[in-house]
Amino acid sequence: MGGIGVSLSIVLALVTLSSSDAGSGDPQKTKCDLSGLWRNELGSLMEIHDVNEAGEFSGEYLTAVTATSNCIQNSPLKGAQHHTKAETSPVFGFTVNWEFSNSTTVFVGQCFMDARGNETLKTTWLLREEVGSLGDDWGATRVGTNDFTRELKLVQIPQNHSPQCGTPAPLSP
Ligand code: BTN
Repeated sequence: MGGIGVSLSIVLALVTLSSSDAGSGDPQKTKCDLSGLWRNELGSLMEIHDVNEAGEFSGEYLTAVTATSNCIQNSPLKGAQHHTKAETSPVFGFTVNWEFSNSTTVFVGQCFMDARGNETLKTTWLLREEVGSLGDDWGATRVGTNDFTRELKLVQIPQNHSPQCGTPAPLSP
């Protein structure tokens, strides 16, 4: 291969390397944006609709796991982020009222973005289940953490995520 061939190969290799390294983020983005589709390390899916001027948002959550034996159903979420305009890595909180159990989960977290524009939601949650008596209150709350990253493959969250529901819903289009 001559000089031009070698140079072309180097350019091609560099282009391939930089584009495969780039991940799925947008390096032009300066603000971490909560709206969109997210997946956590458990495989749960969450869609956050547009964040309004007051920082409030709503969305849907399809958990991949449950503390019950019930059929997992897509469930509504409502939340708010702190200081809509100014923050580049906003702090937020939201509540999920589970459609298929008597429990509620609250999440608090922060949206982070790396130099390549890849966003991560670092969250901590409290899951409160309904118990039959005051005596059982001591064991009614679980705590944990979840990290969410943007999910680019799906356009719509399915209605359920569970074999208990009969026909399992497809996860991809
Ligand atoms: C229930 O089991 O009663 C409701 C579902 C709870 C799912 C929890 S919420 C915290 C953790 N993160 C998830 O994505 N799912 C579990």
